[in-house]
Order: sequence, then C-alpha cells, then structure tokens
Amino acid sequence: MSDRTRPIGVLDSGIGGFSVARQVQRLLPEEDLLYFGDGAHIPYGNHDEETIVAMARYMFRFLEQRQVKALLVACNTISCVLDRCGDAVSCPVFNAVQAGVDAAAGLEVDKVGVISTVFTHNARIYPKKLLAQSPRKLVVLSCGCSDLARLVEHSLGDPDGMIQVEENLRQELDHMVLEEKVDCCVLGCTHYPLAADRIHKLYPGLPLIDPAEEMARSLRTYLEGAGLSNPEKRPGRLTIYTTGDVAEYALRARQVGLERVDRVEFYPPMALSGQRREELP
Ligand code: DGL
Repeated sequence: MSDRTRPIGVLDSGIGGFSVARQVQRLLPEEDLLYFGDGAHIPYGNHDEETIVAMARYMFRFLEQRQVKALLVACNTISCVLDRCGDAVSCPVFNAVQAGVDAAAGLEVDKVGVISTVFTHNARIYPKKLLAQSPRKLVVLSCGCSDLARLVEHSLGDPDGMIQVEENLRQELDHMVLEEKVDCCVLGCTHYPLAADRIHKLYPGLPLIDPAEEMARSLRTYLEGAGLSNPEKRPGRLTIYTTGDVAEYALRARQVGLERVDRVEFYPPMALSGQRREELP
C-alpha cells in the first residue's frame, strides 16, 4: 500500500462520526475510509476523563495498526483529551472541536451558543478556544446535554424516538435560543448534526455550525498540500468497525446516507471493569 492509497481513519464513541464520514465522502470521494465507533461504551460524555482517555487510546491504536494516513477524531468529547492520546498515532490528527472553533470564529456574530456533551461543556474548551481565536468580542453560551447523544444514536428513523429527541432538544435549547437569543449554534457533539432537521424545525432560521464540514475541508487541504490525495480513479470504500451492534450500525449507515459501505465488522471493546487496559486483543 503506497502512502497515498492508505485509508483515512475516523473515530467516534458511536454513530455520531457518520456525520463526519458523510462529509468526507462528499468532498473526497476517492478516499478509502476506516470508521471505528465504540458502541459498547457510548455515551462517552458521561464517563470520567481517565476512562475516556483509555478508551480513546484503544481506538487510536486500532487505527494506527491499520496504517491510516490521517485520523479524524470526530468525537468532540475525545477532542477535549487529545493531548493525552495524540502520541498513540504517528499520522496527523484532525479534531472536531478545533474544526467547530475554526468555523465559528470566522463568523460575523456576537453571541454564539454551543451544545455538547456534559464532559465537553465542563471542559469549557469551546468558550476558551472561541474567545481566544475570534477577532470579535464574543459572548459564548455553552449547554451540556446529558442524554441527547444516546437518544440520537438509538432513535434515527424511529418516529417515537425522534419525538423524544425533540423533547430533549427543547429542554436543552429553549433557554439558549428563545431567551438568550444566540445568533448561531455550534453542534459540539457529532451526534447532533444527525438531528439537524429537528433543530431546524424547532428553531427555524437559527444558523447551525457543523464541525464536520470544516474537518473535511481541513483534511482535503492537508492531503493536497502533502501530496497524499488518493490517485485512484475509482470511488473509495468505507469499512466500519464497531464494538457495538453490527446490524444497528449497518442500518444507521444507510439512514444517514453513507455510501459505498464495504462491510461492517464487530471488534471487541476494551474491558472497563477492574484495571483499565489499553492493549489490543
Ligand atoms: N459524539 C460524541 C461527541 O462528539 C459524544 C457522544 C457521547 O457522549 O458518546 O462528543
């Protein structure tokens, strides 16, 4: 395998990273993708930092062993602890938080809302980075949603489940959007773009910022600059690995419009009970 034909790795705690894989397929259709979703341990946003780092390192090493030429950390929660995981791979790493900040910092807005997992919210990573990076004097409001990622993960395509997603969105977002009147909202968890139609329905006209688009653009810029774009003329394939339910992942991949799915395979999750291990089986 030449450097240029090596795959791109995408990882997430669950299916949320499909929103990133979808953008990469649109922008870079010739690239092969390896996706790893840790369905056995979702939601990451409710775990403690040590556990998130150990689980993330396990996924990084899995993708490193498969010789990815770049790694997209689609999970915002893992992006918060990247300084403790980045050494587990030798390739360049792109992360969702930086992409979301890059996308929002360039906007002509005064008040930015961010919705994310509780872990990402508590890390204050979006407000800190946005305030540091934006040339404007911004107000940043952050909201940590404890159940939204899990609801989206298991409710796509299920009308009753999506009603629960809408109810949860209202509980979490009404204050920020209707009372605080933010100018835009950063979807600071990769699961949320998969429910963007519901957010648009509840809050018409609210601009949503999806870090996935920015991540795919940064990846393209990097590959072109480094001479690493895949030269093959055939469309790239997507291989999905999950520590969760293979049939559910295959279904969700179809529901979110992923294309050219080569196969969906089970991979054993990292054991969480007792002493944490990060070795691969
Ligand atoms: N998709 C993950 C993120 O972007 C979070 C979901 C979870 O809590 O596992 O933060």
